[in-house]
Amino acid sequence: MRSNYCGELNESFVDQEVQLCGWVHRRRDHGGVIFLDVRDREGISQVVYDPDTVESFAIAEGVRNEFVVRVTGIVRLRPEGTDNNDMGTGKIEVLGKQLEILNAAETPPIHLDEHSEVGEDIRLRYRYIDLRRPEMTERLRFRSKVTNTVRNFLDDNGFIDVETPLLTKATPEGARDYLVPSRTHPNKFFALPQSPQLFKQILMAAGMDRYYQIAKCFRDEDLRADRQPEFTQIDVETSFMDEEQIMTVMEQLISQVFKKYLDVDLGTFPRMAHAEAMDRFGSDKPDLRIDLELVDIADLMKDVEFKVFSGPANDEQSRVVALRVPQGASISRKVIDAYTKFVSIYGAKGLAWVKVNDIDAGLEGLQSPILKFMPDDTVHALMRKLEAQTGDIIFFGADKAKVVNEALGALRVKVAEDLGQIKEGWAPLWVVDFPMFETASDGSLTSLHHPFTAPSCDAKELAANPLAALSRAYDMVLNGTELGGGSIRINKPEMQQSVFEVLGIGEEEAQEKFGFLLEALSFGCPPHGGIAFGLDRLIMLMTGATSIRDVIAFPKTQSAACPLTDAPGNVSAKQLKELNIRLREQAAPKQS
Ligand code: AMO
Ligand code: AMP
Repeated sequence: MRSNYCGELNESFVDQEVQLCGWVHRRRDHGGVIFLDVRDREGISQVVYDPDTVESFAIAEGVRNEFVVRVTGIVRLRPEGTDNNDMGTGKIEVLGKQLEILNAAETPPIHLDEHSEVGEDIRLRYRYIDLRRPEMTERLRFRSKVTNTVRNFLDDNGFIDVETPLLTKATPEGARDYLVPSRTHPNKFFALPQSPQLFKQILMAAGMDRYYQIAKCFRDEDLRADRQPEFTQIDVETSFMDEEQIMTVMEQLISQVFKKYLDVDLGTFPRMAHAEAMDRFGSDKPDLRIDLELVDIADLMKDVEFKVFSGPANDEQSRVVALRVPQGASISRKVIDAYTKFVSIYGAKGLAWVKVNDIDAGLEGLQSPILKFMPDDTVHALMRKLEAQTGDIIFFGADKAKVVNEALGALRVKVAEDLGQIKEGWAPLWVVDFPMFETASDGSLTSLHHPFTAPSCDAKELAANPLAALSRAYDMVLNGTELGGGSIRINKPEMQQSVFEVLGIGEEEAQEKFGFLLEALSFGCPPHGGIAFGLDRLIMLMTGATSIRDVIAFPKTQSAACPLTDAPGNVSAKQLKELNIRLREQAAPKQS
């Protein structure tokens, strides 16, 4: 139907007849002449109809925004002085000869011809209109290109693309499962995979050596800007490679994508132990574009009268830290109150602070609600330790380590954002030497990654002191976002059993849930390991989008629903009966 895309026309087409197909972006009447901006995937061309072409002029009078049209016309240079340098096609226009309306359109709920703010619910409900916006089209196209480069890189490096099932058994990655009832096996359920983890390991047992998949994963968890219930991983597994080799190849993959599409050199990624990341940044995904750091001051606070500090300073499970913020002394009381509220989200009971108005004026130069509770010498020692300077504000956190890390780690990022102290550019790193386990709120142990991650120690040491055991896991972090995570896996059934035991998974439960894996490990499973990247997060960072929803064609809302299709929806009584399911509470479903 078309000879060219609207967006590809330029001066080289002058005097040629073209056929364009697209949407009417805007229609303007100008003293007896009608201008139609016609838009397609590639851009916009201006088409002019004058009253001489009687029939098409009459049609042009009737078209409205978002009508789908086919235009036949002659390309010509725009009259002098009417060039539009903002448009690729801004030097030319098309003198319309014919106009065909291929489809009419209702008045669109989202205006595309001006920058209008529309709520996300409307954008998601009318996603087909939202996606017509050039920036949205561009993001999806960028995603397609990056995915293609990823595939090529992995193909070139000997990885084989293998599809794994979506109707499967639960794979624990720490979230709730999406379940699918089985009709043929009444009262039984499939789980949608939280990741292809177990299948990719079994592919290693199968001798596949190097596997990859652009894989859909499903997790029923609390949603945030960088989390969706259904998302995509670049999923990789290899045999006979250690963590160094895996990290090297994966660093090359991400570096190649950044070089090719953003012309950015990411350099060699630094490595940081998990413990160091927590100590210095209160986070296992530190944003290294920010210079601010947490400094432990427990040694100075053990004997002070201020119980809020001396208590945690004398408790092994707790931390007392200071966060020194240069140029922060001008922060108002109102903002400090807002920060105090902000840290309370993470369980902090308060946010002590000191403003350093004049470091050379001694105690006189310091302003703070808490210094009166400390001996002068301690205050001086504190200022020396923190290398405090005039103009600083110092925030303090004192509580259980988890609360302090989360609260002050988040405050570090927020304050840096507010004060414009986040550096431009890209700061990748690998976080390594994670603990194997952490303590859940009920006191039980859970895996920090997943239960198939190999420990750095042997089974005996693991059983003796599980909380001290480190794992052979590695996370790739970029600008404070966890882009990917992986590990060397357990490849022997005895070690896998030991880890299950630490996790309180008895032999019977292990057999029922993971018997197939244990069996696969017992029939000659090679040493293996891998990683998975969040493709949505990668594209979000690369395109500068603020949410992964903006790089997914049909994302779900915060409450995990799809406003476009109205999913999840009701099902008929007949379907439920076939599935042997009776609902607990329901508006009686329609008979069908
Ligand atoms: P993990 O659970 O760390 O590891 O997931 C790997 C990466 O997937 C992305 N990701 C998400 N992206 C969007 N929405 C979500 N809800 C979401 N959850 C995770 C993140 C994360 O780094 N099987 C292991 C990988 C392995 O060990 O090889 C796994 O799934 O970018
Ligand atoms: P209070 O004596 O409880 O009024 O606290 C004095 C100052 O210490 C206030 O600025 C509080 O915000 C702050 N504060 C209270 N508890 C904590 C805590 N756990 N960590 C850091 N600062 C705190």
